Formats: sequence, structure tokens, C-alpha cells
Amino acid sequence: MAAAAIGVLDTSHLNGGQKLAVKYYTVAIVLFVAQVLFGILAGLQFLYPDFLYGVLDFNVNRMVHINAMVVWMLMGFIGSVYWLLEDEAGTPVVGLKLGEIIFYVLTGAVAVVVLVYLFVQVGPGNDMTRWFINEGREYIEAPRWADIGIVVAVLTFFFNVVATVMKGRATGITGVLIADLLALFGLYLAGMFYTTNVSIDQYWWWWVIHLWVEATWEVLVGVIMAWALMTVLGTRRVVVQTWLYIEVALMFGSGILGLGHHYFWIGTPDYWFWIGGFFSALEPIPLVAMVVHAVYDSGAHKMRNSNHPTLGWVIAHAFGNFFGAGVWGFMHTLPQVNLYTHGTQWTTSHGHLAFFGAYATINIAMFYVAAQKLRGNVWMGAGIAGAWRWKWALFLLNAGMLTMTVALLASGYEQSFIERAIEGATWSGYFAGQSHPWFVQGMQWRMWGGWVMLLGLALLLWDLFTIGAGETRKAYSPSEDEAARTAA
Ligand code: HEM
Ligand code: HEM
Ligand SMILES: [Fe+2]
Repeated sequence: MAAAAIGVLDTSHLNGGQKLAVKYYTVAIVLFVAQVLFGILAGLQFLYPDFLYGVLDFNVNRMVHINAMVVWMLMGFIGSVYWLLEDEAGTPVVGLKLGEIIFYVLTGAVAVVVLVYLFVQVGPGNDMTRWFINEGREYIEAPRWADIGIVVAVLTFFFNVVATVMKGRATGITGVLIADLLALFGLYLAGMFYTTNVSIDQYWWWWVIHLWVEATWEVLVGVIMAWALMTVLGTRRVVVQTWLYIEVALMFGSGILGLGHHYFWIGTPDYWFWIGGFFSALEPIPLVAMVVHAVYDSGAHKMRNSNHPTLGWVIAHAFGNFFGAGVWGFMHTLPQVNLYTHGTQWTTSHGHLAFFGAYATINIAMFYVAAQKLRGNVWMGAGIAGAWRWKWALFLLNAGMLTMTVALLASGYEQSFIERAIEGATWSGYFAGQSHPWFVQGMQWRMWGGWVMLLGLALLLWDLFTIGAGETRKAYSPSEDEAARTAA
């Protein structure tokens, strides 16, 4: 078969794992769009509580919003691992057919779960609903049958990764990756216990939620970033791997016991105040390291790189992770502060900037890696046609998210002040906090940020499908450049 022409969208440019990755990316993008649309609905319901009441209730929109987020990010990560696996291991993915089948099973299951969320919205909760409708654990509400399906799917994925690495070459990147995937998937089981004691239930539930986003997902994006800096900038393997080991050590060192910052008020013993406050306060350190890494490497290569949109999103990731998780997380992580901010819009402000800054960004960076290769490793540097699209998408998505973050923070401040400090966290204080004009104005500003994000998302989609079309130049190759430089 003749190779497809450069600049033409064609999967024959890809290796087997990468073809599967594109399928995962496609579903991830569909769910990303769903996430934003359901976020808009939920945001509107803060301002107009009657909007869609009884048709699509707030609790449903919120649930679809955050579950779509978790699933699209996981699918993006799985796709990214399939994307880089053959390159790293130096051999085609082992058991790819099985991986392919599992992809369809997983996608089908996600579709069924979402439809059930949307159509079965009210009724009593019992063993039947736990198995077939909703398990009631925020972010991982999938019913039990789907939980089991997810475990099977990720085990297959894990088999693909381990078997491929065992057959091919083991690198520092794949070593960290395998250890991390084991931890990540193992933790999911912690969220599957069923107990009628809410404190115990929350205790284990945080093992999934916190230890995912503040330990295992962070390490996973460290792996993806290491690989991306190596391919896009041409940073040497020894450099990215050394950084990766440092980041992993710091991340696990602070993030595991940092779990305690969720154990302040759920009925767990008092020693968690000290453990949680102290260790979580250290969590920003690896995030600073990641910023230094990305910025230093970009500078060392004088910003010359093979894929401008990808590098743009990698840098957005480094800063977004640092500010959203590190700074916004640190703000409310000491128990003395958290007493006033717990569960207010501070939390939501942090949740948005952290998830977007740390995890949406790196996935989008990888979508652009795929867009480039799908067109035959086309030039994606200076002077490409329609470059305004990726630049404006980058700007609007980030500016919209920052607007939302600051607006939510203003509402959160007001809640801490009126509901907690003045009214002493009473029932009436709770409502006084939520009806104050400052709160409502924050909610209105959040909506503006949301509309800007929606516009940015539309541009991003348009760009992902068109970037590189008709371009005839080959991509700039940082590794050849590096070879020439060291030879000279
Ligand atoms: C990318 C990493 C992170 C993500 C995605 C993330 C996301 C979130 C989300 C969504 C929540 C709300 C959970 C809920 O529904 O109750 C939350 C809560 C919290 N996060 Fe993070 N977070 C990250 C990192 C951090 C870091 C590094 C810190 C501390 C330095 C931190 C401190 C906190 C605290 C204290 C809470 C509890 C807020 C409350 O009491 O209501 N987070 N985080
Ligand atoms: C158009 C943009 C968006 C709008 C209007 C929006 C709106 C909302 C609303 C109204 C909630 C419920 C908050 C509450 O219960 O107080 C929510 C929760 C959440 N959203 Fe969004 N959202 C948007 C985009 C995003 C994006 C892009 C992300 C991450 C990538 C995200 C992550 C989250 C998270 C983690 C929560 C749970 C936060 C918590 O419990 O504190 N949202 N969103
Ligand atoms: Fe946490």
C-alpha cells in the first residue's frame, strides 16, 4: 500500500497502538464536549433554579458533568499510553486486538451508564439501584455492574502495556508507568466497598479521589510530559527521566499522607489534622519542579520544537497544575483555614482550576501530537495556515477557566465570611451566604467564563480537525537538530 500523502488525514500514518489511541481520543473529545455542556446547564441552574427543573435536575447535570470529566480524562490517558507504547518499547503492542475489543465494550458501557443517569433520575436507593443505576459516590457514581466492567477493561489495558514492555525494551518511563498504573487501578477497588457507615465509606472513597488526582494521576502526567518533552523539544532521555524520578519521589512523599486534608471533618481521629495539614502543605513542591522542568527545557532548546500547539498546551499544563493544584490547593489545605472554607465555592474554584490546569491541558497537548501524525508528521511550526485558531483556542479556554476560577473564589470568600465567620455555620447562615448579592454576582461571572470556554472549545475542535490540512512541509525534527549540534 502506498504511503498516504503528507497533509492528508489518514490513519495509515500511524502504528497499531496509535490507531487505537485515536479511537480513545475521539471518545474523550465527545465526553469533553458533554462535560462542558452539562457544566453550562448546572451553572445556569445556580442562577435560574427553575430552569429544566423536573426535566434535567441539577444533581443529574452535575453528576454527568463530573463523571464525563473523569471518564474523558482517563480515556485520554489510556489513549496517550497506547500512543507512546510502541515508540518506548520498540515493538508493536502485544494483544492489540483484545485492546480493541475492550475499547468498544468500555465505550458501550459508558454510553449505557450515561443514558441511565439521564433517564432514571428519581426513586428510592436500594441494592438494585446500587447495582444497576447509581452507586452514589461522587465522581465515580457508575453502578456496580459497570465498576466490574471497568476493572476488566483496565486489566486488559494493563496486560497490553506489561506484555509489550516485556517483549520490547524497558525504559525509565515505562518502568514508572507500569508501577503507577498498578497503583492507580488498585486504588479504584478501594472505592468499591459497600458500607452503611458514612464515615467509613468516605474514608475509602477518598483513597480513590485524592490518591488518584494527587498521586497516581500526577505521576501519569509526569510520564506523559516526560515523553512529550523528549519528542517535541528533543530533550535528552537522561534529563527527562532524572526529572521524572525526582517528581515521583516528591509526589508520593507528600501526596500519600496529604490524603489527611480530607479527614478533618468526617469523623476520623484528630491526628489527621497534623498529618493532613503538614504533608499536603508539601504537595506544591513537585509541581514547582514540573514548571521548572518544562520552562528550563523549552529555554534550553530556544523554544525550537516540532509542534507549537503541543508545546503551548504542555506549558499551560505545567503552570495550570502549579496554580490550580499547588497554589489553589494550598490556600485551603491547613485545617485552620479549611474550617472556614470547607465545601464552599473555594473548593469548586480549586476543583475547576486543578482539573483543567493539570489534566485537561496535557490531554489536549496529546490530541495535537495525534493531529500532527495523522497528517503524516506535517510541519506544525511557525507560519502554518490558520494558526490563529489554535492560539485563540488556547487563549479562550484558559482565559475562560481563569474567569470562572476567580469568580468562584469571590463567591467562596463571601460564603466563608457570611455563612461561617459571621453566622457561625448555622442553617440560616447557610442560606444567608447563598442569597447575598456578592455570591450571586460571582455565579454570574462564572457563567461568562463558561461561555468563553465554550467558544474556545468550539475553536479547538475546529482546529484539531483542520490543522495541517494541505501543508506540504515535513515537521521540524528536534532529534536531527540535536544530533547535528552535538556533532558540530
Ligand atoms: C491536580 C491535582 C488536584 C486536583 C485535580 C484536585 C481537585 C480537587 C477537587 C475536585 C476537590 C473537591 C472534592 C469534593 O468534591 O469534595 C478538591 C478538594 C480539596 N483539595 Fe484538591 N485537587 C488537586 C490537588 C490538591 C493539592 C496539591 C492540594 C493541597 C496543597 C489540594 C487541597 C485540597 C483540599 C484541602 C480540598 C478539600 C476542600 C474542602 O474542604 O472542601 N488539592 N480537590
Ligand atoms: C462551561 C464551563 C463550565 C461550567 C459552567 C461549569 C459549571 C459547574 C457547576 C455549576 C458545578 C457544580 C458546582 C457546585 O456543586 O457548587 C461544577 C462542578 C465541577 N466542575 Fe465544572 N463547569 C465547567 C467546566 C468545567 C471544566 C472544564 C472542568 C475541568 C476540566 C470542570 C470541573 C468541575 C469539577 C471538578 C466540579 C466539582 C467541583 C466541586 O465539587 O467542588 N468544570 N461545574
Ligand atoms: Fe486531596
